[in-house]
Amino acid sequence: MNATGGTPHGPGDDTPDRAQQVTGASGVPAEQSDLPNGPVQPAKKPSVVLGVGGGIAAYKVCDLLRRLTESGHSVRVVPTAAALEFVGAATWAALSGQPVTADPFDNVQEVPHVRIGKGADLVVVAPATANLIAKAAHGLADDLLTNTLLTARCPILFAAAMHTEMWEHPATQANVATLRSRGITVLDPAVGRLTGADTGRGRLPEPSEIFAISQLMLADSAARAAGQSVADLTGKHVLISAGGTREHLDPVRYLGNSSSGKQGYALARIAAARGAKVTLVAANSELPDPAGVQVVPVTSTRDLYDEITGRAADADAIVMAAAPADFRPADVAEHKIKKTEDGAVPAVSLIQNPDILATVSHDRRRSGQVIVGFAAETGDADHSVLDLGRAKLERKGCDLLVVNDVSGGKVFGSDINEAVILDRDGNAMPVPSGSKDALAGVIWNLVATHWH
Ligand SMILES: Cc1cc2nc3c(=O)[nH]c(=O)nc-3n(C[C@H](O)[C@H](O)[C@H](O)COP(=O)(O)O)c2cc1C
Repeated sequence: MNATGGTPHGPGDDTPDRAQQVTGASGVPAEQSDLPNGPVQPAKKPSVVLGVGGGIAAYKVCDLLRRLTESGHSVRVVPTAAALEFVGAATWAALSGQPVTADPFDNVQEVPHVRIGKGADLVVVAPATANLIAKAAHGLADDLLTNTLLTARCPILFAAAMHTEMWEHPATQANVATLRSRGITVLDPAVGRLTGADTGRGRLPEPSEIFAISQLMLADSAARAAGQSVADLTGKHVLISAGGTREHLDPVRYLGNSSSGKQGYALARIAAARGAKVTLVAANSELPDPAGVQVVPVTSTRDLYDEITGRAADADAIVMAAAPADFRPADVAEHKIKKTEDGAVPAVSLIQNPDILATVSHDRRRSGQVIVGFAAETGDADHSVLDLGRAKLERKGCDLLVVNDVSGGKVFGSDINEAVILDRDGNAMPVPSGSKDALAGVIWNLVATHWH
C-alpha cells in the first residue's frame, strides 16, 4: 500500500557521507539563460571532446554521448586503445557522426594531436581509468587522448571508475589530488555493484549526473568569459530537504506521497556548482547522489525533523523542498496487518507530525539565516493557490515561499517546474515554466540577495 498520508508541503527529495567530490569549475545552471539575471550561454554549438578510457563502464558512456549530441553539442569521441576493447570505433562514430581513432598518427595532415584539444569547449573523460588518471597527472602523451588532454585549455571533467582497491591506492589518490590542484574536476566513483560479485566505491557516476555537470561546466566557462561571477555561494553552508517521507503502518506498508526529489536535488546540484557546502537530507528518493553534496537519507517525517533541526545551527540557508507528511499512523503494527475472516477493515488513526518549516523558521539558530519553504497547493472554491501560499508564508514564518500549483498531477516527478516565489515584503515573483535546475538557480539568486 502506498496511500497518500497527509498533505505534502512541497515537491521535492535522500543518502549519507560525502559520496562524490567535485573540485575545479564552480558552475552555474545552463538552463538559467532565459531567466532574469541568468548567466549567458555559449554563443556557438559547444564543442565537446569525449575521452573514453578502457573500463567496463565504457558502454554506459554511449548514453552520455547520446545525451550530449541530442542536446546540441558537437562531440568528438577520443577513445583509448583499451577502450576500443570494450566498445568499438563503429559505435562511437555512428553515435557521434564524427571520425574516431585512438591513434595520433591517423590523418596526420590535420594535426589531430593538437587541433582536437585546442578546439574543445569542454573535455569529458569517462570512464577515467586509474591508468588514464596517472598518465594525465604525469603529463604523458602516448595516444590521441593524452595528447588532447595536454593541448586543451578548456575545462576538463574526469568521471572516475575502477575497483575500490585501485581507487583507494595512494598512487591513484595522489594523482587525483594533482589533477584537482590543476583545476580539473574529478568526480569520485559512485558506490554500488562492481564488475565481479563485489560491491563498493568504484562505479561510474550515472551518465545523467555526468551530463548535468558537463552542462554546468559549459555554462560556468561561458559566464566566466562574460565576466560574470559563478561561485557566488562560496563560503556558505546550505541545508536542503528533498523527497517524500514514508509513515509506516506495519513493516511493509506506509503512507507516502509522490514527490520524486528532483527539485531538491536540483537545488543541491546548483548550490554545489555555485560554490556552497551542501547537505541534502533526502527522503526516499531514487535519484543518484549529486556530485560534491553530502547526502543524508531519511525515511519518515520525524527522521527528517531530527536531521534538519540537528543541522540547522550550521546552515546559512535552509531550503525545505521535501514533501513531509502532516500526519502519521498513531500505532505501527509490529507484524504485517492481515485480512480477517469476517472481512473487518482495520481503522487507521492518525496523529500530527512536527512542523519542520515552522520550527526552523521560529527558532532561528544563526543570524542572517535565510529559510525557504515550498507550498504544493491545489487551491479550492474560496482560495486561489497564491492566497493559500501567502497565508502559509505568514503562518510558517519563512523568508521565501516557492508556491507550486500541483493540481492535475503537475510538478511531482516532472523535470519541469513553474512557480511563484513569495517574500515577506509581499512581492510575488513568477518563474516561468522551465527545468527544475532553472528554478533552483532563481531560488539561489534570491537567497543570495538576502545575504548581500
Ligand atoms: C574487464 C576489464 C575491466 C576493466 N575495468 C577497469 C575499470 O573500470 N577501471 C580501470 O581503471 N581499469 C579497468 N581495467 C583495466 C584497464 O583496462 C587497464 O588498466 C588499461 O591499461 C587502461 O587503459 P586506458 O587507461 O588507456 O584506457 C579493466 C580491465 C579489464 C580487462
